[in-house]
Amino acid sequence: MTISPINWSEEFSVGIKSIDNQHKKLVAIIKTLHDAIADGEASEILGKIFDELLDYSRHHFSYEEELFKWYGYPDAEHHKKEHVELANHLARLRRKMEEGDNFMGEVLLLKFLQDWLLNHIMKSDKQYAPFLIEKGAK
Ligand SMILES: [Fe+2]
Ligand SMILES: [Fe+2]
Repeated sequence: MTISPINWSEEFSVGIKSIDNQHKKLVAIIKTLHDAIADGEASEILGKIFDELLDYSRHHFSYEEELFKWYGYPDAEHHKKEHVELANHLARLRRKMEEGDNFMGEVLLLKFLQDWLLNHIMKSDKQYAPFLIEKGAK
């Protein structure tokens, strides 16, 4: 099974530059997994990519949450809960991979991560965007 790589596209833009740049970085990290699988090198660097993704997504989620606080976004609690679930899910997968316990395999992981990120951007991040833009977030 092959999966086409995720590539940044303007349709993912939430219209806030700082956020788009962070989303681009997340896309780029996931893309490195795609390329590693294509080159048959995924098993060597999977853990490293995973940790980078965990790290950077934590950073990104807190950044969004800081903006919510700063601008008084009314639906912040709901969005934060989603971040917690996303981060927990990722950490759980990382553990499974480490323990070799029912791990889904690289290709399914890639598919999961691509959906994980794009669904959140398209369905949830796009919901806060109009409010934050109106308040002046850049
Ligand atoms: Fe986001
Ligand atoms: Fe978010």
